[in-house]
Amino acid sequence: IGVETEVAKRNAAYRAVDIVLERGYKLIGVGTGSTVEKFIEELSKRLGAREGVLFVPSSISTALLLRREGFRVLDASTVDFVEVYVDGADEVSEDGSMIKGGGAAMTLEKILAYSSLFNVFIVDYTKKVKRLGERHPLPVEVVPQALNIVLRKLKSMGLEADVRVSGRGKYGPVVSDLGGVIVDVRVPEKADLNELSETIESIPGVVSTGFFKGFTDLLIVGYSDRVEELRF
Ligand code: A5P
Repeated sequence: IGVETEVAKRNAAYRAVDIVLERGYKLIGVGTGSTVEKFIEELSKRLGAREGVLFVPSSISTALLLRREGFRVLDASTVDFVEVYVDGADEVSEDGSMIKGGGAAMTLEKILAYSSLFNVFIVDYTKKVKRLGERHPLPVEVVPQALNIVLRKLKSMGLEADVRVSGRGKYGPVVSDLGGVIVDVRVPEKADLNELSETIESIPGVVSTGFFKGFTDLLIVGYSDRVEELRF
């Protein structure tokens, strides 16, 4: 990833910090990934007193980052909504729908986005695509015991599906914080992703897919010298 993309991510993240501070949110859901990391670091610098602001992380890695900055962290199981949810994405289309789950955290991300009163997604300009699935597969979280059954079903639907394997250190499947195995499904060029995702989510043993539709309230797209704000 080039310097320009890093700056673009930072610009998007900083704008999200402005918005969160302006609006004075006190219960903040936080997504996962390198753009969100920049959001956390900047918020930490600019949020003076830690008291009174609570954070709900979408992953263990985000929980660790939040703790490192001295923020108060609540487990998702202890809240029934968040006031705002801030997260990144892997691909974003014109209508604000997205592919997420590059970090295997999309199930809790989707739950938090669903519970949130206001959703802000922060991406750098390289994440904008004409067609979702152009560059990333659709991540699918599967209960381990159902893995072979789900794989067989996906293949019988004519889909290319692979268990995601950790690239670093260990050999074996990528398992999410929730214990599900991540399967990556290649998105066929002509597929209606909404329909495909709904079909996949209806297979018993599938927990969720990384397709997000109808969640985005505000999309902040970062460039090296500016941000673009899109409301949906
Ligand atoms: C995590 O599971 C994903 O949904 C992330 O939102 C996504 O991978 C974005 O990460 P970056 O901000 O590092 O690109």
